[in-house]
Amino acid sequence: MGQFRLLWFFFLCLLGYEGLAKGVLGLACNWGLQSTHPLPPNIVVKLLKDNGFNKVKLFEADPGALKALGRSGIQVMVGIPNDMLASLASSVRNAESWVQQNVSRYISTYGTDIRHVAVGNEPFLHTYKDMFVKTTFPALQNIQAAIIKAGLGKQVKVTIPLNADVYQTDSGLPSGGNFRPEILDLMVNIIKFLQDNGGYLTINIYPFLSLQADPNFPKEYAFFNNTGSPLVDGSIIYTNVYDANFDTLISALEKNGFGQMPIIIGEVGWPTDGDPNANVDNARRFNQALLNRIIQGVGSPRRKTPPDVYLFSLIDEDNKSIDPGNFERHWGIFNYDGSIKYPLDMGNGRALVPAKGVKYLARQWCVMAPSATISDPNLAQSISYACQYSDCTSLGYGSSCGNLDAQSNASYAFNMYYQTMNQRKDSCFFSNLSVITTIDPSRPPCRFEIMIDIGKHELAPSSNKSSAARTKSLLTALMLVLALVICGTVL
Ligand SMILES: *[C@@H]1O[C@H](CO)[C@@H](O)[C@H](O)[C@H]1NC(C)=O
Ligand SMILES: *[C@@H]1O[C@H](CO)[C@@H](O)[C@H](O)[C@H]1NC(C)=O
Ligand SMILES: *[C@@H]1O[C@H](CO)[C@@H](O)[C@H](O)[C@H]1NC(C)=O
Ligand SMILES: *[C@@H]1O[C@H](CO)[C@@H](O)[C@H](O)[C@H]1NC(C)=O
Ligand SMILES: *[C@@H]1O[C@H](CO)[C@@H](O)[C@H](O)[C@H]1NC(C)=O
Ligand SMILES: *[C@@H]1O[C@H](CO)[C@@H](O)[C@H](O)[C@H]1NC(C)=O
Repeated sequence: MGQFRLLWFFFLCLLGYEGLAKGVLGLACNWGLQSTHPLPPNIVVKLLKDNGFNKVKLFEADPGALKALGRSGIQVMVGIPNDMLASLASSVRNAESWVQQNVSRYISTYGTDIRHVAVGNEPFLHTYKDMFVKTTFPALQNIQAAIIKAGLGKQVKVTIPLNADVYQTDSGLPSGGNFRPEILDLMVNIIKFLQDNGGYLTINIYPFLSLQADPNFPKEYAFFNNTGSPLVDGSIIYTNVYDANFDTLISALEKNGFGQMPIIIGEVGWPTDGDPNANVDNARRFNQALLNRIIQGVGSPRRKTPPDVYLFSLIDEDNKSIDPGNFERHWGIFNYDGSIKYPLDMGNGRALVPAKGVKYLARQWCVMAPSATISDPNLAQSISYACQYSDCTSLGYGSSCGNLDAQSNASYAFNMYYQTMNQRKDSCFFSNLSVITTIDPSRPPCRFEIMIDIGKHELAPSSNKSSAARTKSLLTALMLVLALVICGTVL
């Protein structure tokens, strides 16, 4: 009897912990993989769960991520890159094969909870000209047919993540919103198709880009707790560009007979580096207010029910294209290694939880040798070589390392290359201009990073599997006993 009761209590206790771990509410975010040293997927999944994220969006059907997400309790939106659209548009067979290999397989084999397939990524972006205008809709139709054929029609919904530049307003007010004239018919057909199939319209909205692109943009208006001059649209007062932008979309939908169309915000966030407006203070201000709105369930003036909002982004990506700007590699609420950049209240006073179990390379850096001089004829070329193969986006004007003197500037570049090359011995050479040091050269806010260990460095410590495994199982047993004891005491 006593034993039975203890077991019962333990069971209740476990339920309680499970509820706690899942968090009071579900948050959603993007998980991008364009890093030279991606965190192991199981560490990222733990990071997501620890921080209350129960929805995640992937830009591609990455096998490691999809497997790690299996039976995690996290719902997944899996993306199809634009360069696959032509092939998927050309034959339903291709679409069936894609769905089989990248959706069905993970659902049935790994228990991955895939809920959405995102066909393309901002395919109608102005800067792409008309490159994907002909292939996107047929690809969407073929993927939808393939999902139904695979017997997943109820569970998996299609969508297309679109940039907010698919709509505009001629009056300058949200009420004047409509889709861009040259894609208006296409948008209407796509939205009709999504609606018929229970799909969502996904839109990415970037107040940061509004501010970054326009030197005359009123800075306060980019944030949610703006107290400056608002935008007046009839009886509605807009205090921030996010609501105004979102309601421009709502107006566009209403004008075309889709007033009830469900919407997902596919990306929204603020970067911390690579631009004078991209810093920790601004990112914290924007993202905290955004999170507060999500947690409180705040909608926009024209649509009171809030959409699902996928934060952009979870972690920094040091191998992303910087065509749009240096800030592209710094959107994470976490650094590349899952460490915390700035405090955030994730709801009910819950603080951010950093990634656990991350393995780093040795605590050493590559810096400019004391004997070298900045007038050395090889220096410029060495820095430019280092920055060609590693991420120097923090060195730019207004960025976290933008104020370094020439010597530290060179050191930063050398170190980034050295770390990106996994601290390989020959990667700290640079015509004899560099040396390895164990003294951290960081000058806050400029961080001289140490890369994470992805098992590619020369002196990999011969992993002592047997003893490591023993320690792990011992630890697990200990935790179990501890949990039992705590549970017993609490209840
Ligand atoms: C970085 O991206 C480029 C293409 O964008 C790719 O060719 C390269 O393999 C990537 N590097 C790493 C280390 O992932
Ligand atoms: C998905 O499936 C197709 C088969 O149609 C395959 O070629 C492709 O590489 C898979 N992976 C991704 C990430 O799309
Ligand atoms: C609101 O804005 C002010 C600056 O005007 C800032 O100091 C404050 O932290 C912001 N509050 C939140 C919750 O972001
Ligand atoms: C630092 O290095 C960057 C990248 O090569 C370069 O653009 C910048 O001019 C350098 N700044 C100084 C102070 O040397
Ligand atoms: C580097 O230094 C070594 C020893 O002082 C010298 O032999 C070598 O030529 C130097 N290499 C370069 C590229 O300056
Ligand atoms: C591995 O563990 C064994 C004991 O389990 C020990 O004798 C051996 O020295 C260890 N090897 C390394 C490289 O740590």
